Amino acid sequence: MMFLKIVPCTTLCYLAAAALLGVLLFLLAVYIYNQYTSGVCTSNSRMEGKTVIVTGCTSGIGKEAAKDIAKRGARLIMACRNVDAANKLKEQFAKETKNDNIVVRKLDLSSLASVREFAQQINREESRLDVLVHNAGTAEVFRKKVTEDGLEMTMATNHYGPFLLTHLLIDLLKRSKPSRIVVVASSLYFLARLNLDNVNPTATLPGYLYYVSKYANIVFTLELARRLQGSGVSANCLHPGLMSTGIWKNVPPPMSWVVNFLLNTFCKNEEQGSQTTIHLAVSNDVEGVSGKYFADCQETTLSSGIQDQAKGKKFWELSENLVKLQPSDPKI
Ligand SMILES: NC(=O)c1ccc[n+]([C@@H]2O[C@H](COP(=O)([O-])OP(=O)(O)OC[C@H]3O[C@@H](n4cnc5c(N)ncnc54)[C@H](OP(=O)(O)O)[C@@H]3O)[C@@H](O)[C@H]2O)c1
Repeated sequence: MMFLKIVPCTTLCYLAAAALLGVLLFLLAVYIYNQYTSGVCTSNSRMEGKTVIVTGCTSGIGKEAAKDIAKRGARLIMACRNVDAANKLKEQFAKETKNDNIVVRKLDLSSLASVREFAQQINREESRLDVLVHNAGTAEVFRKKVTEDGLEMTMATNHYGPFLLTHLLIDLLKRSKPSRIVVVASSLYFLARLNLDNVNPTATLPGYLYYVSKYANIVFTLELARRLQGSGVSANCLHPGLMSTGIWKNVPPPMSWVVNFLLNTFCKNEEQGSQTTIHLAVSNDVEGVSGKYFADCQETTLSSGIQDQAKGKKFWELSENLVKLQPSDPKI
């Protein structure tokens, strides 16, 4: 009341209008920035004779990337948890891309047993693997969920499952050299830190663990690239941009309405978001490039903390223990 007496009502209206205008101008700037800086994969590379696995390609960025790769004539392996949805999509891709060399294979990255079953099937059935795209991801926002292996759900799906899968497919990738591993991370990694004293942090706020998992994706890729030097297998990671996809599905309404409205209106669409993944999977420009981080189809810089090699090595060893890597499993 005191404040209202000091600041007249009309002044308050002006202040509110100015704040609203500021927010609108900011969102307009975000929109213009996204539209004009959005990278496009300009490569015409064909992929006949090559085999590509894309994890989690029933929706979002993975769906768009998988369709593009199928269009280029590759043998596409859709590694998906929801096999019915993937089979429907496979029919649609085959029609749209005129490529019937597409198969669906069941993979639930939150289950170490499912990762092992999937890898066994791939190693048994496939004679080569040219590109492995780690795209699948999830974000538990408020619920704390633990997998059958005792791992926190977001970390298990986004890091531990892909970590184990990479080990189990590495020999096939090496035999198919030059081959590539592409990891979909996020620039939001900067919101997180990796606590090496607790790499299975079930007690932390689940939403925060999404950012930790994206931080882990980058630390993993950098260490993977170091370990694969000279093997003919490259490993790079990327930020796809921000967009409205299934990744936000665990955000409850009404917050989800606001988030989806803002992302749909001012950010990238799924096709734009898939461009850097496609670039890293197919372009000749990145042949031999490894251990780098990309956004908008260009190499970009990382904070120095995330590139700490000692931390990368330690995190790798902790991950090996948590996924129960066996002496008979391939070592990287
Ligand atoms: N959207 C963004 O703004 C954004 C920004 C930065 C990074 N990213 C990253 O982009 C990647 C793709 O996400 P998106 O945005 O396209 O979201 P999305 O539409 O939700 O796609 C995620 C895919 O992962 C699959 N998946 C989830 N849990 C799985 C599991 N346990 N096993 C196997 N597959 C599983 C989903 O399959 P189901 O249909 O079975 O759930 C879905 O196909 C993620 O790694 C995400 O972190 C997204």
